[in-house]
Amino acid sequence: MRVLVTGATGLIGNELVSLLLKNGVYINYLTTSEDKLQSEQRYSGFYWNPDNGNIDENCIDDVDAIIHLAGASVSKRWTKAYKQEILESRVLSTNVLYSLLKNKPNKVKQFISASAIGIYPDSKEKVYSEDSTETDNSFLGNVVKKWEEAVDQIKRLDIKVAKVRTGIVLSGNGGALTEMAKPVKMGIGSPLGTGKQMQSWIHIQDLVGIYYYILTHELDGVYNAVAPYPVTNATLMKTVAKVLNMPFFMPNVPKFMLEAVLGEMHQILLSSQNVSARKIIGDGYQFKYLSLEKAIKEALKK
Ligand SMILES: NC(=O)c1ccc[n+]([C@@H]2O[C@H](COP(=O)([O-])OP(=O)(O)OC[C@H]3O[C@@H](n4cnc5c(N)ncnc54)[C@H](OP(=O)(O)O)[C@@H]3O)[C@@H](O)[C@H]2O)c1
Repeated sequence: MRVLVTGATGLIGNELVSLLLKNGVYINYLTTSEDKLQSEQRYSGFYWNPDNGNIDENCIDDVDAIIHLAGASVSKRWTKAYKQEILESRVLSTNVLYSLLKNKPNKVKQFISASAIGIYPDSKEKVYSEDSTETDNSFLGNVVKKWEEAVDQIKRLDIKVAKVRTGIVLSGNGGALTEMAKPVKMGIGSPLGTGKQMQSWIHIQDLVGIYYYILTHELDGVYNAVAPYPVTNATLMKTVAKVLNMPFFMPNVPKFMLEAVLGEMHQILLSSQNVSARKIIGDGYQFKYLSLEKAIKEALKK
């Protein structure tokens, strides 16, 4: 099997590529950076620039499935221009793939795209399953909605489409956990805002395990990629402190302070989404990391 991966050089992409290679899958990948291009028998890079519609069309030769992870990071300051890049890097890149699939003969049967639980409205009480039709009326909520709409066009080409609504990814190699661990390591870890917001987390090995499961079982539709037991932010921060064997007694960081330091991006830390993992479990996926403490211990190698 040959899979085309976009965003293969990122946090999730790196882990996914390792898993696919371990399982004998051949990989083509698209990158926006010419210096990340490699050409090995089982791992071949192709250049694209979704901003101007440029793509090396050879990237889909012999490809059975596409896994689309590319997108500008949401954890950089949200200036007006950068907000545009967060949106366009997802929508335009999807449109470029759609055009290529439409115009060049190929044998792609499945398209699996990253998505995010930020599509669900901020709520401490509601539990969101994939059937929920509500979307959060925030910048990120709207980005995810438009990203999913772009992805849905691909269904018109008679290709199975799956969308992986991803929670907070726990990895020792970057992303949210690495950032959360920084103040804790300095002995100043504390809950953010009220600390009562629900955080639906997932260990990176389970996340790539879910991508692989969807690929090999040829699943389509929406899937939440979160572990089955979400926690509050206070519990999450406290567990990080426990694993790192650091004190946890500082007062909560108030919302106004987060807003002053991070600008509009502070919303990522304070929004609350209690998301259900039932669908993927019902379809047979078995989580490796059900316990938050075990997941953080493994990610931080403690
Ligand atoms: N990590 C999380 O907690 C999380 C949670 C929910 C959803 N997600 C979604 O999952 C996907 C992968 O996440 P990640 O954490 O692996 O992200 P990441 O580490 O930031 O990597 C994303 C990759 O996208 C490519 N990229 C960056 N800017 C781009 C642009 N302007 N146009 C096209 N490609 C661009 C880059 O690859 P090249 O340099 O090779 O082009 C980069 O390696 C993202 O779409 C993200 O929104 C992640």
